[in-house]
Amino acid sequence: MALIKTKIDTRSDAFQKNKAAYEAMVGTLRERQAYAVSGGRDKQIERNHERGKFLPRERIDMLIDPHTPFLELSTLAAWDKYKNAAQSAGIVTGIGIVTGTPCVIIANDPTVKGGTFFPETVQKHIRAQEIALQNRLPVVYLVDSGGAFLPHQDEVFSGPRHFGHTFYLQARLSAQGLTQLSAVFGGSTAGGAYIPVLCDYVVMVRGKGRIFLGGPPIVKEAIKEIVDQETLGGAEKHTRVSGVSDDFADSEPEALGKLREAIARLNWRRQVHAKTKPAKPPRYATEELLGIVPVDRKQVFDMYEVIARLIDDSDFDEFKPHFGEELVCGVAYIHGYPVGIIANNGILFSECSLKGTHFIEKCNQRNIPLLFLHNITGFMVGTKAEESGIAKHSSKMVYAVANSRVPKYSVIVSHSCGAGNYGMCGAGLMPHFLFTWPTSFIATMAGETAVVVMTEVKKAGIGGDKVTQAELDKIAEDTRALYTEQGDPYHITARLWDDGLIEPTKTRDILGLCLALGATLEPETGYHPVYRM
Ligand code: COA
Repeated sequence: MALIKTKIDTRSDAFQKNKAAYEAMVGTLRERQAYAVSGGRDKQIERNHERGKFLPRERIDMLIDPHTPFLELSTLAAWDKYKNAAQSAGIVTGIGIVTGTPCVIIANDPTVKGGTFFPETVQKHIRAQEIALQNRLPVVYLVDSGGAFLPHQDEVFSGPRHFGHTFYLQARLSAQGLTQLSAVFGGSTAGGAYIPVLCDYVVMVRGKGRIFLGGPPIVKEAIKEIVDQETLGGAEKHTRVSGVSDDFADSEPEALGKLREAIARLNWRRQVHAKTKPAKPPRYATEELLGIVPVDRKQVFDMYEVIARLIDDSDFDEFKPHFGEELVCGVAYIHGYPVGIIANNGILFSECSLKGTHFIEKCNQRNIPLLFLHNITGFMVGTKAEESGIAKHSSKMVYAVANSRVPKYSVIVSHSCGAGNYGMCGAGLMPHFLFTWPTSFIATMAGETAVVVMTEVKKAGIGGDKVTQAELDKIAEDTRALYTEQGDPYHITARLWDDGLIEPTKTRDILGLCLALGATLEPETGYHPVYRM
């Protein structure tokens, strides 16, 4: 046993002051999440209920097993965009357990612009499918959508990661044995029709669900045929005549029940490669995290204190504790599942990169998933660092992360800047899940560093000798404002660069759910990366 002993005085003024400030941040997060779930569209929600239809989260509640959690992803997608009228980007995604089988669930929200696809809707849909692929899970589509949001058609239609890619992924997932299932509760028009039709199982709600490549207005325009929606593509038509649907149901609960039966027959078996232990709570309360991680990011904090409140029994088997100390590595258990933790406790030096690379290789050898806890302003700069080979050593860490075969999870606790973001498995390095805390900041560099870079670049450029102090001040002010806005976690989560902005106190349980999915290892390529020595 190697218990982490806390040095925190929870009665100190500093702790209490920070906790109060962090609680206010959590309050804001909860308010914004509540708005995303049901705010700003009372009339649409009322109309939906009057039509005898349920909301997407109500449908999910009926679909998943009673008393099991639903891990909702990216609730704040599209936050502060489109005048905040595309709540959750009009789509709910996440992981829920259906008849004992964890499934990725993708549910359109008809109360947000008819469930149409904004650019973030497409990204959220694709990300959920990628999560299914990485974690090897079936996907359930709860369809109720008007297809592309036409005013933004150029941002959703034909690009490589646009609507067409969702169909590509559906076909690829199915081919890999990851069953695709759907229930159609409302519109499923044009390209959107492929969402249910590319599924291995389709059930439609009679009188409500509709599937057609072109709706009545398009049919009228194209071939002058006048036809109503039900005749064109209702549940009866597609279940009895065209065979596009496999079955129909008379109500939404009945359709969800049929989906549950289909999932129960999948013969899906969980593959847990980890040797688990009985779970134990940490020795210190997770609520204390709010007093530990400073709201003012300029203040330092000790990552051991964070680890101690996330892991079982606060028991941490540390790797190389006396070498490259700014990168803390070690094996622990979360909810009984082993995990190799890589956490920042200072800037990254060459020794830290080597230690991180070594540890990643070790966890790969032992099939232990990796958890990256970010508080990194970057790799060390300067002559001494360059002479130590920081560029090649940091590249080894990037190489090891990219080629790692075990599942990877990232949590951005505070800073995640510069190449440190890559070495620590930022979004571009394809973590299985990446979550941010309200105190996180993700950017190329800290804002004040960017101010210096931008003003120095201006002074050194053409005509730099004539630049006035007023012009430099303006550059500094604009750069500071840009970094404040773009490094903010709400900016990040709105654009799907994470899988959700989460409360620190919920992190342990969320990670436990992710680990319990038992994601399989990436297949062996037979090659080993060429490390630059
Ligand atoms: N693009 C942009 N906006 C759309 C849209 C689309 N494809 N489909 C619906 N909307 C908007 C509506 O204008 C309305 O906006 P408002 O609230 O600002 O007035 C809102 O979404 C809700 O639409 P509404 O028709 O009132 O809701 P509904 O529940 O009665 O019907 C649909 C929803 C999706 C079935 C219906 O709107 C529809 O058939 N839309 C067109 C679908 C289509 O042809 N898509 C082709 C995409 S390639």
